[in-house]
Amino acid sequence: MRVMVTGAAGMLGHALVPRLEAAGHAVVAVRLPGESGGPPAPARGAPARETRELDVTDYPSLHSAATAMRPDWIAHLAAWTDVDGCEADPDRAFLVNGLGSCNAALAAAETGAAVLAMSTDYVFDGEEATPRREHDPVSPLGVYGRSKLAGEQGVREVNPRHVVLRTAWLYGRGGRNFVDAILGRARAGETLRVVNDQRGSPTWTGDLAEAVVALLECRQFGTYHVTGSGDCTWYELALEACAVAGLGARVETITSAQLDRAAKRPAYSVLHNGSYEHVTGRRMPHWRDALQRYLRG
Ligand SMILES: NC(=O)c1ccc[n+]([C@@H]2O[C@H](COP(=O)([O-])OP(=O)(O)OC[C@H]3O[C@@H](n4cnc5c(N)ncnc54)[C@H](OP(=O)(O)O)[C@@H]3O)[C@@H](O)[C@H]2O)c1
Repeated sequence: MRVMVTGAAGMLGHALVPRLEAAGHAVVAVRLPGESGGPPAPARGAPARETRELDVTDYPSLHSAATAMRPDWIAHLAAWTDVDGCEADPDRAFLVNGLGSCNAALAAAETGAAVLAMSTDYVFDGEEATPRREHDPVSPLGVYGRSKLAGEQGVREVNPRHVVLRTAWLYGRGGRNFVDAILGRARAGETLRVVNDQRGSPTWTGDLAEAVVALLECRQFGTYHVTGSGDCTWYELALEACAVAGLGARVETITSAQLDRAAKRPAYSVLHNGSYEHVTGRRMPHWRDALQRYLRG
């Protein structure tokens, strides 16, 4: 297949682009103009990778890139993922996460491609303490979640051949993430104060990239939840990360209220992976297993 990947220089793009290439798919890696970093170079012997620089809020550029490439899929990862920053600038959040997602879906529709758009557990308010299914009512607590929800709705409206993939609590190489931040502070000898009243499912980008490839290959359109199996609090994740890394850090619990972030987070963010498992016949590995592979890999 031919796959155009937006947000290719981000954390999930860093894992997904090489995974697609390893599975024999041709990739066009799309990044923001001037953005540094990006996925590792193609493996030796693999076909050269095409790259493009464009802003997903610029529809003509996106459309002309898709027209030139004629992809089978646009895998739309690009987003403004600064959850607290979105509270201060809702216009930018809705432009990138809402309109940008509509643009990706429309460029796909107009060039005969399907679209896979990433979304988030933050479309839920976390009031119900049972794993959330795709059809459960959404009620985002903040601007980031509302802007991603606008993106989901736009994708469904403009391209019937869509996969909306909600995930949560990502960590991996090539991006700022909780696990690396905790280990950095532990290595610096800091006492860690970590929230213990938010529960979710940590998801390693390496495992999520495998799941994305499986969903692209099975071509069953719809909305899916895909996270690491099992769940924990951020505090429990910090303890486990320090233990696996062999760091004897001092870790204390705090509440979300004490942390006082600009954006309110859902208290319970666990997603039910059943639909993904049904259509692909695969299971996501447990988060503890994934963390070991990430930290020891
Ligand atoms: N990280 C999580 O815990 C999490 C959880 C649930 C869902 N998701 C979703 O999963 C997807 C991938 O997340 P991630 O963690 O890989 O995010 P990320 O590391 O922030 O990557 C997103 C990429 O999109 C780029 N981008 C931002 N605005 C753009 C624009 N207007 N046009 C083109 N590219 C643009 C970013 O560039 P800059 O870095 O220069 O802004 C970045 O390279 C996102 O859709 C996110 O909403 C993430």
